[in-house]
Amino acid sequence: MKQKIALIGFGTVAQGLCEILINKKNELAKKYNYRYEIVAVSDLRFGSVYNPDGLNLKRLLKEVKEKGKFIKDRVDWSAIETIEKSNSDVVCELAYTNLKDGQPAIKHCETAFKNKKHVVTSNKGPAALAYRRLKRLADKNGVKFMIEGTVLSGTPVLNLAEGPLAGNKIISAKGILNGTTNYILTKMEEGMSYEDALKEAQKLGYAEADPTNDVKGYDARAKITILANVLMNVNLNMAEVKCKGITKITLKEIAEAKKKNARWKLIGSVENKNGKIKAYVKPELIPLDHPLAGVMGSTNALTFTTDLLGDVTIVGKGAGKIETGFSILTDLLALNNSE
Ligand code: HSE
Repeated sequence: MKQKIALIGFGTVAQGLCEILINKKNELAKKYNYRYEIVAVSDLRFGSVYNPDGLNLKRLLKEVKEKGKFIKDRVDWSAIETIEKSNSDVVCELAYTNLKDGQPAIKHCETAFKNKKHVVTSNKGPAALAYRRLKRLADKNGVKFMIEGTVLSGTPVLNLAEGPLAGNKIISAKGILNGTTNYILTKMEEGMSYEDALKEAQKLGYAEADPTNDVKGYDARAKITILANVLMNVNLNMAEVKCKGITKITLKEIAEAKKKNARWKLIGSVENKNGKIKAYVKPELIPLDHPLAGVMGSTNALTFTTDLLGDVTIVGKGAGKIETGFSILTDLLALNNSE
């Protein structure tokens, strides 16, 4: 059976996903028996389009690139109507991340669940602010809430812990969870100013729409909250996570750290001590012989401490168009396998 997908938001991640789906269409069908149609798209800038038999993805990408809007198959639907009225069975929520109240993404997820549609998302708002409530709503309606892309983009973290590592207790998760700040710290070590490094990270597409979320540590704090709530089965509130960003670190401090054979890294950590959760985000001086010290540029890394396997570290890309597009694909494939 073909998976019928509605995309809410047609920004970088959605376009990355479409490029992958176009380029790998035959391979995905042959190797994974995965067949799909994108039946609907709704985007604040480009408009909404719908075709119950499937939209032409190459044309959608061309239209937004050349005309800045969708032209063919247009409908006068809001995002909510697109979720309700389209014949989709999966909604990919790829609108912008809002870490203040999670809207409008939380409403999009609720609408999808009430209409018995799965949600796949890389949007951190719903996962960081309303995970437990949304998961319950999804369960009640017999559908899935899939959020692999919210932490470390396509580098497997949540699915790794819940899949191959199942049976372990996750005692702690600690690492470099934000690509923008790790990129800035790397560039500052090479002598670049904070401002220029941030501008480069924005140009490369790593930074959030509002980079305050990156540099003040709020993005990493959202990811730590998601890890705690999904993997440690608690209901941690983002505001309970102590948070300090990298805005105060100077070129001088970075140079001094090097002399001491150490490196500043923005570290996010969550630990479950007999049911008591301790979580924080802050810059830490990491000795150069520590595995996290060698993680440079926009690369992320996360170490799980488990009861059966000890430490398990995963290192990989945590941001980017294709990398995050892939995070959506990985959940779409998992949904396909489970049906
Ligand atoms: N702004 C984020 C980062 C993007 O730099 O890691 C991925 O969540």
